[in-house]
Amino acid sequence: MSTNLKVLITRRQFQEQINRLGEVADVTVLDRPEPPTRAELKKAVLGCSGIFAHITDLVNGEIMDIAGKNLKVIAEFGVGYDNIKVEDASERNIAVGNTPGVLTETTADFAFAVIQSAARRLAESDRFVRSGQWKWFDPLDLLGLDINGSTLGIIGFGRIGKSVAKRALASGMNVIYFTRSTPDDDFGCKRINDLEELLKISDFVSLHCPLTDETKNLIGTRELEIMKPTSVLVNTSRGPTVDTNALSDGLLKKEISYAALDVTDPEPIPADHPLLRMENVTILPHIASATVGTRKKMSEMTVDNIIAGIQGKLPPHCVNAEDINWE
Ligand code: DGY
Repeated sequence: MSTNLKVLITRRQFQEQINRLGEVADVTVLDRPEPPTRAELKKAVLGCSGIFAHITDLVNGEIMDIAGKNLKVIAEFGVGYDNIKVEDASERNIAVGNTPGVLTETTADFAFAVIQSAARRLAESDRFVRSGQWKWFDPLDLLGLDINGSTLGIIGFGRIGKSVAKRALASGMNVIYFTRSTPDDDFGCKRINDLEELLKISDFVSLHCPLTDETKNLIGTRELEIMKPTSVLVNTSRGPTVDTNALSDGLLKKEISYAALDVTDPEPIPADHPLLRMENVTILPHIASATVGTRKKMSEMTVDNIIAGIQGKLPPHCVNAEDINWE
């Protein structure tokens, strides 16, 4: 459809949602699995009213100014939107949308699967079999940790943190948590107000906080030193919440026993990174929300946010609604 409204989708996306957008705007899709370069992004945003953005796109004031005065809405394909400079958007009266809720259970399923897989050394055991090392039943090899009866420390007790907690309670874990917010209900989990205390007593530590200035490198050298030497660190939030170099050192010094990461800093992690040479590390390619059903819902919600925004209505899921004045 030819309109004066232009929308950019920065990666390949579900055709059904591209078609929906196409009914109300001229849509450009950077239709590739890999992210656009900065130069490509700058060129493609020119004159756009809406940008359908992904975690790999830094959308800051520079990009917003290049897009120009038509830009009304930037909608993130995801719940985390740390790649979008929301203050820059608010200053320019541009709405920012995201996709809360639709990926909570899928992400929690995944995070808990990663916790269990780390506990029972599944990735390592699979490599053991594939490399021909499985010669016999060995009563003392590949021993893991019990999930039941152990303590899970959850950092960040929002929607996803709570859903992980529910799965952990059902599996017989004791659940403790650290959060800056005030949860309305913690269904029997214990709040710990001191992060160091949580790190000291947890057998598993799982991160579920957004990436902010406060949570960048939340887990670094000191925190790893405090953790139990048998403990497992799981990160399905954002890579920079964990200091990657400190983690490599901590694992080498056996300050913790295992790390399982769905997110890294940088992302992707370079193929020659020391963490990839360690047996007691699992690294996954940022797939916590990656099911067909959930990614489709995320795409639909992102398009809902764009359609509203380019038509001058606040996106249904707007993170800076109080700063927007479109009178
Ligand atoms: C999210 O929703 O934040 C996922 O990590 C994808 O960016």
